[in-house]
Amino acid sequence: MPPPPLLLLLLFVAVLPSFAPATAQFPCIDSHGGNFSRLEFLRRAAMLRKASLQATQTGVQLPVRWSSAGYLVDLAIGTPPLVFSAMLDTGSDLVWTQCFSQPSESLTYAALPCTSPQCQTLPRFSCSPDCHYSYSYGDTSYTKGVLGTETFTFGAADPAAITGIAFGCSTVSEVGAENSPFFSNSAGILGMARGPLSLVSQLGEERFSYCFASDDTTTALLFGSSANPSPQASSTPFVNVPSPLYYLSLQGISVGATLLPIPNTTLALQSNGTGGLVIDSGTTFTLLTDPAHAMLKQALVSQIDLPVATVAGYDLCFSLPPDASGVALPILVFHLDGADMAFPAANYFVVNSSAGLLCLAIFGSPFNLSILGNFQQQNMHLVYDLAGGKLSFEPANCSDRSLVDVVTKK
Ligand SMILES: *[C@@H]1O[C@H](CO)[C@@H](O)[C@H](O)[C@H]1NC(C)=O
Ligand SMILES: *[C@@H]1O[C@H](CO)[C@@H](O)[C@H](O)[C@H]1NC(C)=O
Ligand SMILES: *[C@@H]1O[C@H](CO)[C@@H](O)[C@H](O)[C@H]1NC(C)=O
Ligand SMILES: *[C@@H]1O[C@H](CO)[C@@H](O)[C@H](O)[C@H]1NC(C)=O
Ligand SMILES: *[C@@H]1O[C@H](CO)[C@@H](O)[C@H](O)[C@H]1NC(C)=O
Ligand SMILES: *[C@@H]1O[C@H](CO)[C@@H](O)[C@H](O)[C@H]1NC(C)=O
Repeated sequence: MPPPPLLLLLLFVAVLPSFAPATAQFPCIDSHGGNFSRLEFLRRAAMLRKASLQATQTGVQLPVRWSSAGYLVDLAIGTPPLVFSAMLDTGSDLVWTQCFSQPSESLTYAALPCTSPQCQTLPRFSCSPDCHYSYSYGDTSYTKGVLGTETFTFGAADPAAITGIAFGCSTVSEVGAENSPFFSNSAGILGMARGPLSLVSQLGEERFSYCFASDDTTTALLFGSSANPSPQASSTPFVNVPSPLYYLSLQGISVGATLLPIPNTTLALQSNGTGGLVIDSGTTFTLLTDPAHAMLKQALVSQIDLPVATVAGYDLCFSLPPDASGVALPILVFHLDGADMAFPAANYFVVNSSAGLLCLAIFGSPFNLSILGNFQQQNMHLVYDLAGGKLSFEPANCSDRSLVDVVTKK
């Protein structure tokens, strides 16, 4: 039952403790010879963009759609505007696109000098004399090119053109593992983490939201005041650490009525930066550290009354009977700080009915960190409240367009 499981893992590697064992401490946004005035400069620029957005329209709304392993956002860059699609990635900061055509064909492109505050916030860059960056992700995806600024245009109906957004004009990139549908084929990545170069930071917005459909329905990425949780939504605080990643405090995992006996050091973020759970829209399937992953598999085997099947590429599969309608599958619950996040079977199993297989879509983590992937986020309305320091979430039918309409009208 191909395709291979770990299609995309677009988590920025410089913040992965396992890739930086020498610096065993919290990854820090401002750890690169940092300077308050540099961040202050970027913050003020973001405030100006926010004011300019508010003057042009009520809220930014970008179309989001599923494509093979991740969610793509359509936006436009340059003058005249050129539409491109980028993977929506809350696990990294950099916004980049492939420089297919000469950037000089755009009237608004400018390369950033090495001395610019934007360049200086990058973890890896070289000077010649423009800012040449190199940026890598957890699945060996990477991009290299020149950091520049451009005008970005958001929205089709009431377009807002925002000038001076820093982005990677990529000359070399590979996205996805070699056998994934994205290999060599992505037009870019839209970084939405908490660091200064992410789109949400550059726009000076305090909130954004999305609702990932499990089919080909186009949904919306909303910013600012239109990204509102409903009064019924649950919320959990982001762990307050100086990392650009959105860490959630996972305190336990239940399968049906069984609370897994996971030692709390397995799930909690340690003071040396290992462990913890990150929510990442750029990773396809959830990755859990051991022994949590082993205990999850064990609980599923004991609770699901189906024969176990061995399938290459998957850790745990079951054989489905010809009529699978009577099969009972437990609810999986992540006990987060202050709220439970419940996943029906559709969020943690992939089904191949013609092959009669049900396979677990949660894998062991290759890092000392767990990641909540986009498959598990489907059919959930998620609001990242950066100003409030919390994630709000609520089960939703994201294919039901009325949700987008309701949210937009608020
Ligand atoms: C995870 O951390 C342990 C010790 O905490 C270390 O021995 C191991 O190499 C780490 N694994 C990875 C993939 O970094
Ligand atoms: C911090 O910024 C000030 C003023 O812009 C500058 O003079 C100083 O060299 C900077 N320090 C570092 C460590 O970058
Ligand atoms: C881990 O569990 C112990 C005992 O239940 C508790 O005292 C401790 O505070 C927990 N640590 C964390 C980080 O949750
Ligand atoms: C980090 O701390 C945990 C316990 O707090 C420990 O088990 C682990 O070995 C440490 N990892 C590193 C890389 O220091
Ligand atoms: C389902 O399994 C069959 C037989 O192994 C395979 O040919 C088919 O591609 C699978 N479908 C999906 C969607 O993976
Ligand atoms: C979700 O909404 C779509 C479109 O309105 C509808 O076709 C579908 O049946 C709904 N799904 C569920 C599970 O209610």
